[in-house]
Amino acid sequence: MSDIKKVIINKKTDLNPIWIMRQAGRYLPEFREIRKQNTDFIKLCLNQELSSEITLQPLKRFDLDAAIIFSDILMLPYGLNQKVEFKKNFGPLLGELNLNEILKLEEIDFVQKILPVYKAINIVSKNQLTKNKSTIGFVGAPWTLLVYMINKQSPKLKLKNDFFKDNFLIKKILIILEKFLKVHIKNQIDNGADIIQIFDSWAGLLEKKDLPNYVYIPTLNLVEFVKTLGVPVICFPRGIKDYKNYCETVKPDAICIDYEVDPIQIRKEITIPVQGGLDPKILLTDKDNLGKEAKKYLDIFKNHPYIFNLGHGVLPETDPNMVDYLVKTVKDY
Ligand code: CP3
Repeated sequence: MSDIKKVIINKKTDLNPIWIMRQAGRYLPEFREIRKQNTDFIKLCLNQELSSEITLQPLKRFDLDAAIIFSDILMLPYGLNQKVEFKKNFGPLLGELNLNEILKLEEIDFVQKILPVYKAINIVSKNQLTKNKSTIGFVGAPWTLLVYMINKQSPKLKLKNDFFKDNFLIKKILIILEKFLKVHIKNQIDNGADIIQIFDSWAGLLEKKDLPNYVYIPTLNLVEFVKTLGVPVICFPRGIKDYKNYCETVKPDAICIDYEVDPIQIRKEITIPVQGGLDPKILLTDKDNLGKEAKKYLDIFKNHPYIFNLGHGVLPETDPNMVDYLVKTVKDY
């Protein structure tokens, strides 16, 4: 069993495993080299030879405890036949949302369209570099995917005023998302993912009164589904203010915290295993500061099951030497 699973399942507190959100990505020159020759991001995700190689790149450099599959949460709307593009210096851009077409979609056609993602997971989980380590599969939470599907781009700081105007469409999309997210999760697990992380990057955009309908209930359904498959599930509801209420309601096996929440308060309030927290911007400072800030998290969660990670993805401008220093600091603690 991987150290990450020992923390989550056996509640071990002396292991300090580490992985990093977006660990395979633009801060690595070897990734940029491949990316330069593959300008279509979706196509790259659907090339199992390259996407498995990219997934393993950070494990060749650093003593990380997990591989997270190089893919994207937006492969799901792509599989549902909504157009998805990644524009340079802009981010994701989605096409028109055609409900009738999505309603007609069959499970086998969805799976066929994104099959290379599962093949890549299979390759990664069988590679020597992931021996005794975890292969993390992931999905976007229904709410965050709904935001992208309706807004068609990243929402930045707030939702448009008319976001909720088509209630019928929203209800239907949430039902479809639940169905296909389960298919997507099951296929990742069947191909070797031994942990699932649910990314709810835009949970923080909602008012408290809307959390049950859009975050708690849809995510709880997925969490319960992952549990029936015997795999631990980590939830990352970025920007949510009340992590305690979230954990008590959604009941993930572990909770990933963002960098805006006070880790001391989390330590006091949360009883389940915790992951993450360190501000990715700390990696842009210097080694002394990085060591100090990383130890702050390790000290706070000393007697608590804790998986080291950042409070959001590693930034593209990060120096890989700083990541190396971070991993060593955590391992030597
Ligand atoms: O963590 C990993 O190493 C695994 C791969 C991974 C990617 N995206 C690859 C990626 C994972 C887990 C994601 C999740 C994801 N994708 C989220 C949830 C986490 C978060 O960041 O909040 C979201 C919201 C997305 C949607 C998305 N994909 C955005 C907003 C962007 C553009 C922003 C940016 O950083 O450029 C992407 C593109 C993307 N996904 C890249 C990578 C490596 C950069 C693509 C490039 O090389 O240009």
